[in-house]
Amino acid sequence: MNNTIYFDPTCDDDTRRRQLYEGQLVVYSPTANTLAFCEFARSLIKEAFGDLDPETAQYHLPVEEYARILGELKPKFIHHPESKQHLRNILGEFGCDPAETYFDVPKLRSSTSDNYLTSGIAYAWHPHRDTWYSAPQSQINWWIPIYELSTENGMAFHPQYWNRPVKNNSDGYNYYEWNKQHRGASVAQYVKEDPRPLPKPTEAIDLDPQIRLVGPVGSMVLFSAAQLHSSVPNTSGKTRFSIDFRTVHRGDLARKTGAPWVDERCTGSTIRDYLRATDLALLPDDIITMYDDETGHAGELVYDPNRT
Ligand SMILES: [Fe+2]
Repeated sequence: MNNTIYFDPTCDDDTRRRQLYEGQLVVYSPTANTLAFCEFARSLIKEAFGDLDPETAQYHLPVEEYARILGELKPKFIHHPESKQHLRNILGEFGCDPAETYFDVPKLRSSTSDNYLTSGIAYAWHPHRDTWYSAPQSQINWWIPIYELSTENGMAFHPQYWNRPVKNNSDGYNYYEWNKQHRGASVAQYVKEDPRPLPKPTEAIDLDPQIRLVGPVGSMVLFSAAQLHSSVPNTSGKTRFSIDFRTVHRGDLARKTGAPWVDERCTGSTIRDYLRATDLALLPDDIITMYDDETGHAGELVYDPNRT
């Protein structure tokens, strides 16, 4: 196999999705729309931390207080109507057909330095595929740094595991059960340990060689949900803040196109989470039925993306 990192490609969205489904990575330089999204995120972050510099606030606050602040800030960003509008502007600018492209609400992520807070609301991600967490094979992840990145506080890709099975415990993960038990405000309480059953490798894996893409504020990295990736252990002395969101293409879902299945054994599906770029409608029922499984039939377990 070969790995390619495309920088500022001029191809259309169909070609780009195909490349991502083949395990390639795509990087874009900042644009007015991505920078506006970062500026909006920074305004909420600054408001949350008051007089403290958000990148170093962790050194001035008890960890419980820090987790409480993030516990308010993150849902506010996720559900803010302006966040969705910025996201839609970006999809339009980057050639996604808004009638065919559906997105999950954008997330605000943080990675604190020096093991200050690595569980719960600021989880330091072990290597994983999002497809171990019930994402469809055609999901694409978009990732944007909000402050200046360094190689010590970004994200790492492990493309040697593309299309190569990794022993993992995703068979214990059901998305509907997960939403019922673990989604919501309680995450901020996990400051010392994190009891949530998060699928991970159950065999030793080679973290190196790994790829760390360090772009400027407002740059974007696109990758397949099946790409193995992890948080870089942050030793930079600064908290990293980033935005990420996920997209799916209705036509690809209907055709069952996407990255190859490798080692995913989770149940349930995130298929009900995506909102159409034109009008925020959910995916049509025929698509949901294709991706649902028998675990989705207990109606109360199904996540409602409009719930706060
Ligand atoms: Fe992930």
